[in-house]
Amino acid sequence: MTNAYKIALLSGDGIGPEIIGQATRVFDALELKRDVSFELISAPFGAHAYFEEGKAFPDATKAVCDEADAILKGPVGLSYEESKKIPVEEQPERGAILPLRARYNTFANFRPIFLSRDMAHFSPLKPEIIKEGIDILMIRELVGGLYFGKKERGINKDGQRYVHEILEYTEEQIRQVLIVAFEQARSRKKKLHNIHKSNVLMSSVFWNEVLDEVHKDYQDIEVIHLLVDSAATALCLNPGQFDVMVMENMFGDILSDQGGGILGSLGLMPSACVGPEKSYYEPSHGSAPDIAGKNIANPYSMIGSVAMMLEMSFGMKEEAGFVWEAMRSVFESGYSTADLSKSSDNIELVATDVFGDLVMAKLEELL
Ligand code: NAD
Ligand code: IPM
Ligand code: MN
Repeated sequence: MTNAYKIALLSGDGIGPEIIGQATRVFDALELKRDVSFELISAPFGAHAYFEEGKAFPDATKAVCDEADAILKGPVGLSYEESKKIPVEEQPERGAILPLRARYNTFANFRPIFLSRDMAHFSPLKPEIIKEGIDILMIRELVGGLYFGKKERGINKDGQRYVHEILEYTEEQIRQVLIVAFEQARSRKKKLHNIHKSNVLMSSVFWNEVLDEVHKDYQDIEVIHLLVDSAATALCLNPGQFDVMVMENMFGDILSDQGGGILGSLGLMPSACVGPEKSYYEPSHGSAPDIAGKNIANPYSMIGSVAMMLEMSFGMKEEAGFVWEAMRSVFESGYSTADLSKSSDNIELVATDVFGDLVMAKLEELL
């Protein structure tokens, strides 16, 4: 019997439609070569949804997402100046992304930071640091911390304006993401870097206490504790020491973009946002307003998010592997999108859609 999957397609803003247009071609290729069918249902989400419908995450889009087996989301958001045209609470980060994460409790954000040996030249780090490439899995807590804590603005008794933004976690929120991280460590190199700031933050002291409890069930895993500031340096000086890293929401936001930096571009950063019942998949980066509409964005992050969906939501591990292989073989054959190409390189620069053509040709060969 044919496996039939329903996917909510949220194209997003900026480069979103350009890169998602390449990513959905993977579904077409699979339908031709495998006994599987995909129903893609597009729905407005983000700044364009606000301008069209007055809501960044309209009710009809929520209904489409509720019905779907998985959600594929392009980046959303506008430039800082353009954002001011939207009331703060409807700006797509607060008005769409955070409500999407909360709706499906997507507590575990997988952000792989990977560069094959033959793509190592894309990294801005020196070859003696990069060595055989980079292979790190960052697991970022995604539905707690400062992002979701109580917020309050007011005027205090001295007439000073103030703001409170509270970093909140329950022990269960911490435990559930740590279990995911320990499981990943077990399936990889049995090594887990716990990134924290327990020298200052009570939330990190608490996080580490819960980690010690969870660790009792994973005694085969070596835990290495590293302060978040120190981790930022270590990612630049010796990324090879890391395998699986786990951290709270805000630390993970910042360090994962640094991960994109050591790869050479955020365009190499796909991600999976995993919940107990439903997961959604999106690049780690934003809508890149500086290059939107030019057909030069790197679609790897978006196509890679589809690969993660295939494996994690639909159990299509082999096919996901072929998608990665196809993309990497295009880069390894000497093609590149503009974000990664350096003028001194012997590299042929290709547009977003041409990169998609090359990936699809290779994928069809592999499937
Ligand atoms: P950004 O990630 O959009 O861009 C940072 C830099 O990376 C830019 O120079 C951009 O051109 C480049 N870049 C990003 N993705 C690329 C790709 N696929 N190919 C080539 N180059 C790429 O960050 P920003 O400019 O700080 O944010 C722009 C908007 O995106 C903001 O509104 C922000 O809130 C939003 N945002 C959304 C998400 C999301 O939807 N998950 C994530 C991050 C930022
Ligand atoms: C990310 C983004 C989001 C975050 C924003 C846009 C809400 O930066 O997915 O990394 O901070 O989580
Ligand atoms: Mn971010």
